[in-house]
Amino acid sequence: MSEQKKFYITTPIYYPSGNPHIGHCYTTLACDVVARLKRMQGMDVMFLTGTDEHGQKIEDKAKEAGVTPQKYVDDIVANFKKLWATLGISYDRYIRTTDPYHVESVQNIFKELYDRGYIYKGEYTGKYCKPCESFWTESQLVDGKCPDCGRECVDASEEAYFFKLSEFGPKLEKLLTDEELDFLEPKSRVNEMINNFIKPGLQDLCVSRTSFKWGIPVTFDPDHVVYVWVDALSNYITALGYGNTTYNDYDKYWPADIHVMAKEIVRFHTLIWPAILMALDLPLPKKVIGHGWITFGGGKMSKSSGNVIDPFILCERYGVDALRYDLLREMPFGSDCPYSNEMMFNRINSDLANDLGNLVSRTVAMVFKYFDGKLPAEREAEPLDEELLSMFDALPSEAIKDFETLHISDGLEKIFRCIARANKYIDETAPWILAKDESKKIRLATVLYNLLDCVRRASILLSPVMPHVCPKIFEQIGATAENTTLDSASVRGALALDVEVKKGEVLFPRIDIEKELKELEALNPKKEEPKNENLEPLKDPCVFDDFLKLDIRAGKILECENVPKSDKLLKFKIDDGFGERQILSGIAKYYKPEDLIGKTVAMIVNFPPRKMMGYESNGMILSARAEDGGYRVVELNKDVKPGADIS
Ligand code: ME8
Repeated sequence: MSEQKKFYITTPIYYPSGNPHIGHCYTTLACDVVARLKRMQGMDVMFLTGTDEHGQKIEDKAKEAGVTPQKYVDDIVANFKKLWATLGISYDRYIRTTDPYHVESVQNIFKELYDRGYIYKGEYTGKYCKPCESFWTESQLVDGKCPDCGRECVDASEEAYFFKLSEFGPKLEKLLTDEELDFLEPKSRVNEMINNFIKPGLQDLCVSRTSFKWGIPVTFDPDHVVYVWVDALSNYITALGYGNTTYNDYDKYWPADIHVMAKEIVRFHTLIWPAILMALDLPLPKKVIGHGWITFGGGKMSKSSGNVIDPFILCERYGVDALRYDLLREMPFGSDCPYSNEMMFNRINSDLANDLGNLVSRTVAMVFKYFDGKLPAEREAEPLDEELLSMFDALPSEAIKDFETLHISDGLEKIFRCIARANKYIDETAPWILAKDESKKIRLATVLYNLLDCVRRASILLSPVMPHVCPKIFEQIGATAENTTLDSASVRGALALDVEVKKGEVLFPRIDIEKELKELEALNPKKEEPKNENLEPLKDPCVFDDFLKLDIRAGKILECENVPKSDKLLKFKIDDGFGERQILSGIAKYYKPEDLIGKTVAMIVNFPPRKMMGYESNGMILSARAEDGGYRVVELNKDVKPGADIS
């Protein structure tokens, strides 16, 4: 017996710095379709997804939220996993870069690269913001200043390890231009990589940092943590057991058949990742596919437009398979795709409710009406049938090829062209007229059989995209396990000749678009525009529990002075009822320090301490924006004593 073929497909590992949205859904769904298809083809599939959990951003977000980085990522990872379960994502393995086996492997990989001479110690130079203790690249600066606090940054350097990416230019160019290998798709991205990155000369890559801690320590130099890409990209092999003993699948599945991602990280997967693998002397992945972006109203998802795009809400209201179908159908291969709820509703109504849903329900209803649910086995073909059936004969190989190459939208379009043809066949054959003539009974049965069999063939091909609805269709049209295999999609007339159909639920209820748009808006009310430009727009709704987390207290200002070299900051000593605390506040432009002494103000006291211009600030004084755009402290009544809680 020949050995079962292996197939390994991966999504990027997503940053759990915020909850997953439909952009993440698209990539994961696209991989799910291919994984399901490959399983239908009898392959032994490994479908990997996961989360990329280290780095400064996560460390900062956790600090803001007042929790440990591990707790912060644990909560968000739970949401990712919940969403994948809701969407029916059939991943085989979920890797978290905080998993101990991954940490161990990355440490081994880093050491191996160092021992082989591909990693060396050097100096990282960049723009440094002292108060924020952060390095920035030139392009990250906003108006030449720190993007976080708006202060001046200075040129600075820190010790760091570098990966010799610069050595790999010619090899990478060969990899990307080798037509037989066809390493990267779409092709337009190949030129982008060559012209924008390889031709100008690849720079060595900074692969360690000492300025933050939330990362994998370098074993032989523990002040350093592994910086971003060596940690993240390695996941594709560590998840198989490379460099660890937790898994033993590396020899079985590597090299990957396809790495799928959106365009912004193609560079990392087609330059850095192959270079790391070349340096380790390991085989390269067979293909990288970089799809476009789902865009929202000209770029950013906007809740204020009432355009709610919470995938959980969409699944609950319109069905998981409707969302799966819509996202996969709308995104053209390689380009961007705007998303709106209205577009999704139109797509569901036209393709799913009108074309597919109606074809199934009309056909099943006619089998009931004219034959009590069971067709007679005799047949009477006519030339008209051939046009329909030959279209379905050509469909499977084309649709499968499209799906395999991630041209999923094209494949779906072809399937729905055939479904539309089947609907037209109903109009052409007019079963209701045949039914009036007893001598046409066999012809009528033949027409209905052809329709059921076409529904079967289309639904087999649709099942990787709509894995929840297609089994319901099979049940309604009387299909069995034997005649719903992928191979049987190519077989004409595989349904039993005397097939018996079943009544079932409405597969895709029609959406009342106006009503639904209003209801979605009500779930997330459109916000009033501010009446004057000094007013900040109203924020998103939040829950009372969020407010309860803040400890807001009254405090009496004992001392107040300007911070040297800062035109923004005042430094306060405040009686908080429990003792004295130091707080810094950016209101120096609006007050003389002495005018503030003696005032009782409101302040938040349970934020983690923060360094500003070298001074520690232990809280935040609440201020209100005044008409001139400046700020005034929120003053409390004289009979409110320091330490009083504010709620
Ligand atoms: O880049 N449209 O993580 P990330 C389409 N951790 N796809 C989108 C999308 C959108 N609007 N938004 C996100 C990272 N995606 C790294 C990856 S891999 C070794 C490390 C999808 O959370 C798309 O696949 O920013 C994109 O490439 C990925 O999420 C970025 O995820």
